[in-house]
Amino acid sequence: MTGLERRMKVIIRPTAAAAALLTAEIIGQQVKGKPDSVLGLATGSTMLAVYRCLVQMSKKNGLDFSRCRTFNLDEYLGLAADDPCSYHYFMRKHLFGRVNLKMRHGHLPDGMASDVTAASVAYEKLIGQCGGVDLQLLGIGLNGHIGFNEPGSDFRSRTHVQTLALATRRQNVPFFPIPDQMPRRAITMGIATILDARRCVLLATGIEKASILAAALGGRITTDIPASALQAHGHCTVVLDAAAASALKKRRPGAVRLTRA
Ligand code: F6R
Repeated sequence: MTGLERRMKVIIRPTAAAAALLTAEIIGQQVKGKPDSVLGLATGSTMLAVYRCLVQMSKKNGLDFSRCRTFNLDEYLGLAADDPCSYHYFMRKHLFGRVNLKMRHGHLPDGMASDVTAASVAYEKLIGQCGGVDLQLLGIGLNGHIGFNEPGSDFRSRTHVQTLALATRRQNVPFFPIPDQMPRRAITMGIATILDARRCVLLATGIEKASILAAALGGRITTDIPASALQAHGHCTVVLDAAAASALKKRRPGAVRLTRA
């Protein structure tokens, strides 16, 4: 039995914009239903449209983040919070500085920690003290990574330092003005940390993600494809645009929960 037949709900929208809007709506429902939600957040190009929608929902519909706490998946090792290439900077620019989330409630791993092991343990502890993540937003790397958990990562892993795979460096180097400035390591929540979230929502768009999604969602669970771990999660929603969903295998009627818009 594959993940699609187990518990994953896969929702397909015709366009990337519609998929991002739906993802933002799911987050909005979470926040409305539980105003003091603990949100797990992601960075990356795919999330830009989600954060734009959330900012709109905050400005136009009064979506209230004032009691939320957030924990990002990852941060580059060696980048300070004010470095324009850091994920701290990304989050302030695209979300934290544009909604009424209290700045002190938006957490990311500390890329400048002198003792990264202690900082990783502290990050896990803080998530626990806040009651655990209610909803974890995820993207997927071209190699199947979630957070920066690269192929081969232990499914029992907790927040830790990860050496970035070549595929990840290739994927993200365009965001660095000087390619050599891209760090080779990052601090990331582990796969076990991600799976602890009460709900996971993975958003992926674009044809370039189609084949890895087919393997991650429809193939066997394997550490070669970290996102396949989500098949074992009890409450995981996958939101795709038509291009990203194009390699998913059609299954017998009723066997899968594929929802097309
Ligand atoms: C970033 C993260 C990564 C990205 C993934 C997809 O915080 O956790 O797993 O979600 O690399 O990135 P994009 O959206 O740029 O394709």
